[in-house]
Amino acid sequence: MNEINEIHAPAEQTLQTRLIDPENKAELSEAAQLLRRGGLVAFPTETVYGLGANAYDPDAARRVYAAKGRPSDNPLIVHIAALETAEQIAHTTPLFYRLAERYWPGPLTIILPKKDSIPTSVTGGLNSVGIRFPSDPVAAELILQSGVPIAAPSANLSGKPSPTTAAHVIRDLYGRVDAIVCGRDCDYGVESTVVRAQGDKLTVLRPGAVTPEQLRALLGEENVLIDPTVLQKAAEGMRPQAPGMKYRHYAPCAPVILLRGEPREIRAALLRCKADGKTGILCYEEDAALLKGRLTMSLGPREDERMQAHRLFACLRAFDETDAACIYAPLPAKDGIGLAVYNRLEKAAGFTVRDAKEILSTETK
Ligand code: TXA
Ligand code: MG
Repeated sequence: MNEINEIHAPAEQTLQTRLIDPENKAELSEAAQLLRRGGLVAFPTETVYGLGANAYDPDAARRVYAAKGRPSDNPLIVHIAALETAEQIAHTTPLFYRLAERYWPGPLTIILPKKDSIPTSVTGGLNSVGIRFPSDPVAAELILQSGVPIAAPSANLSGKPSPTTAAHVIRDLYGRVDAIVCGRDCDYGVESTVVRAQGDKLTVLRPGAVTPEQLRALLGEENVLIDPTVLQKAAEGMRPQAPGMKYRHYAPCAPVILLRGEPREIRAALLRCKADGKTGILCYEEDAALLKGRLTMSLGPREDERMQAHRLFACLRAFDETDAACIYAPLPAKDGIGLAVYNRLEKAAGFTVRDAKEILSTETK
C-alpha cells in the first residue's frame, strides 16, 4: 500500500458539524445512521473521546486519518458492543475469551489476527486488529444502533493530548467531522490498555486502567510481558509493536521537561521556577500552595494515581490556553494506572528527563 507512512495535515474545517445530545434518543439514532452510512462521529467512552467511522468502510477509515492528520501506518482500534462481533472480525483464541470475560466491557484493547472483513486501511496495513468493547453506555448504544463495528482513534488532532471532555473534541475537530456526541467527561482520562495476545502470552503495548499487576494476577507472572517502548524511547530504526507509540504524542504546545528525584528535591527544584507566567508547572496538590503565584496546574494528590490519570490531558490542554513557554512536571510513580500517566508524560516530554538534584546544584537563580 503506497499510502502507508504518508503524514497528512489535518483536514480543512469545511463541514457543518452537528452537536448531538446523547440524552435525546432521536439525535443519538441519527448519529448512529450517520456512522453506518460512512460519516465521522466523535463520541464519549470511559477512557477518552473517540472519533468513530464504520470499520467495514475503507473510505470512512481514510477520512478518519485525514480529519486528524494521522499518519496512515498507525492502526485504528475497532469498537464493538457484542462479543460475537469479535468473531466476525478476528481469529479468536482461548486467551482472548479469558480476557474478554474478565475485563469487557471496559478499558482493554486486545490485538488478534484480523479477518478479511476488516480492510487494511483500518489497520494501518497490518494483518492484526485491535478490538475494544467500551463500557460507556452512550458508546455502547451508538455502536449497537449503527449495526456495524466502529473504528475509532482518540478524537484529537494527531499529536495533541487525547480529549477527555466534549469541549476538547469541539476545539480539535469542529468543522472536520460530521457530528460530535457531547456526553459527559471521561471517567479514566487515559486511553485503554492495549495488549497483544499470542498463544498463552500477553504483551502490554500501551498501559492503561487495566494494569500489568491485574493481568499478572489473572494469567500468571510469566505470561505477561511489557513491551520496552512502554518505558523508554523506541531504538532508532526499530518498528514498535504498536505503531502509534513511535510518534511524539499527547503534547501541549510548550515543551515538557520531566524532573526525576525525591519529592523534596523536586519541590525545591520547582520552587526555583520563576513566577513569570511563562514557566508552567504540573504539580501534585500537596505542592500547589507552596508554588503559589506561579503558573501551576494540579494533577491531584500524590498518592491518587486514578485522579492523576483523570486530570492529565485536561491539564496539558489547559497549558495551551496560557503563555507557558515550557512546562516542568514530576516523573510519576509507575504503580497501577500510574504507569499509564508515566508513559503518557514521557511521550509528551519526548523523553526529556532531568535530575532535580542536578538543577539544584547547577542553577542558582
Ligand atoms: O481508549 C482508547 O483506546 C481510545 C478510545 C477512543 O477507545 N482509542 C485510542 O485509539 O486511544 P488511538 O488510535 O488513539 O490509539 C490506538 C493505539 C495506537 O498506539 C495504535 O498503534 C495501537 O493502539 N494499535 C491499534 N491497533 C493495533 C494493531 N493491530 N497492532 C498494534 N497496535 C495497534
Ligand atoms: Mg490517540
